[in-house]
This record gives sequence, C-alpha cells and structure tokens, in this order.
Amino acid sequence: MVKSRPYVILSAAISIDGKIATKSGDSKLSSKIDKKRVHQLRSKVDAILIGKNTLFRDDPMLTVRYVKGKNPIRIVLDSLGLLPSKSNIMRTASKIPTIIATSKKISKKNFNRLKNHNVDIISCGKDQVNIKQLLQILIKRNIKKLLVEGGGTVNWQFIKQNLFDEIIVTITPFLIGGKNSITFVQGDGFLNISKSAKLHLARITRQNNEIVLFYKK
Ligand SMILES: NC(=O)c1ccc[n+]([C@@H]2O[C@H](COP(=O)([O-])OP(=O)(O)OC[C@H]3O[C@@H](n4cnc5c(N)ncnc54)[C@H](OP(=O)(O)O)[C@@H]3O)[C@@H](O)[C@H]2O)c1
Repeated sequence: MVKSRPYVILSAAISIDGKIATKSGDSKLSSKIDKKRVHQLRSKVDAILIGKNTLFRDDPMLTVRYVKGKNPIRIVLDSLGLLPSKSNIMRTASKIPTIIATSKKISKKNFNRLKNHNVDIISCGKDQVNIKQLLQILIKRNIKKLLVEGGGTVNWQFIKQNLFDEIIVTITPFLIGGKNSITFVQGDGFLNISKSAKLHLARITRQNNEIVLFYKK
C-alpha cells in the first residue's frame, strides 16, 4: 500500500503540570540526559518540524550534536515567510537541508529572500500551511519518519487532524502553572474526551529525576 504521509512522532519535554514553556517563552526544561536521548531520536528520523514561534523564541539549530549521527532535514512552518535571516536555521541552510513550509499568502519579496538562503520552499494552504498537504508532499520526497518538536500550536494541529502516530513526552521535575504559559497542546482543544484518540502506553523509561512516556496510537 502506498503511504499517504510520513510516520509522525510528537515529542516534548513537559513540566509536571503539562506545560512546555512559561508565559515568557522560557522552555529550558530538558536535562542533559534527555537532550542526548532526543538527539539520538533526531538521528533516526528523516526530518524534524517546528512552528514559527518556536524558531522565534528558541532560535534552535535542530541538528544532532549530543550523539554521533546524521542531521535530519529541518522543516519550519512559517505561513508568511518571516523567519529572520540571522536565525541559526537560516544561517546554516546552505549546509543542512532546510524546508520552509509557507502558505500561498507569502509575498514575492519574502519568497525571494528565503530563496537567497538556499532553503527549499513548499507553499501549500491558503492562509496557513496546510499540514495534510505538506505531509503528502513530504512522503513523495521520501521523508518516511517525521519528528514534530512543537510548539503547542503546531502540536494541536497534528492532534486535531489526527495526523500523528506516536507521542514521546519527558516529564521533568518542574511546575510552571499560569493560564498564559504554553501547554503541550494549545489550540481550542476538544469539547469531549471521546474526541481524543485513546493512546496506548507502549513504554516508560526512567532517567534520573525524569520519566519518559512513549504512547502510540
Ligand atoms: N518544552 C518543549 O519541548 C518545547 C518544544 C517546542 C517548543 N517549545 C516552546 O513552545 C513555544 C512556542 O509554541 P507556540 O504554541 O507559541 O508556537 P509554535 O507551535 O512553535 O508555532 C506556531 C506558529 O506556526 C505557524 N504555523 C504555520 N502553519 C501552521 C499550522 N498549519 N498549524 C500550526 N501553526 C502553523 C503559525 O504562525 P504563522 O501562521 O504566522 O506562520 C503559528 O502561530 C516556545 O516558547 C518554545 O520555547 C517547548
């Protein structure tokens, strides 16, 4: 059977109360041991995807550094093509394959600016990136395994549209609280529990003061 989309893993480090960042956007929850585990996972996927806000807040590299292994393709959802030229991902795009997924609303000027950074641009969706269409394009490009590293707004879209297969969360020993902090899954949320997929707890590992939960569909 021809696959219509990559295998999708949603991954995050969360506080005990389910937050991924404070209201100021501070998300430094991960321990060294967890970073190593995540980098190991990165080295085994074809691509990593994040949302625009995560890039603006964290300016990540999305590479494999804590273990030996290949860098996956980096994908950023950025509807209007606003990513700063000085960001780590844009600066290194000529060396590490990078896809910026935009909507059709991107201006010619922003499109050309991105192109000058040697990124691959995929435009799909009217106002925002259409994730379903994007996944169909990615599988045709032989991206079979995709790691989604947030943030919460992006996670919600994958969950709402039922476009994921696995969830890996590390519960870190912190409490954040606050209605304006960022949770693992943002968006409007489901009205009834019955709307949620009922996941299967496939594995648990303990790493010092944290536990990692591996849930599958
Ligand atoms: N603890 C952790 O493991 C972890 C992991 C990742 C992130 N974080 C934290 O999470 C925070 C950011 O999360 P966030 O929820 O604010 O933002 P986000 O999910 O990183 O990015 C959301 C943005 O992506 C763009 N986007 C484009 N197409 C989209 C689509 N189809 N669906 C969803 N988004 C789309 C949208 O902006 P445009 O439409 O304008 O492009 C949207 O506002 C940061 O503070 C970061 O540090 C924590």
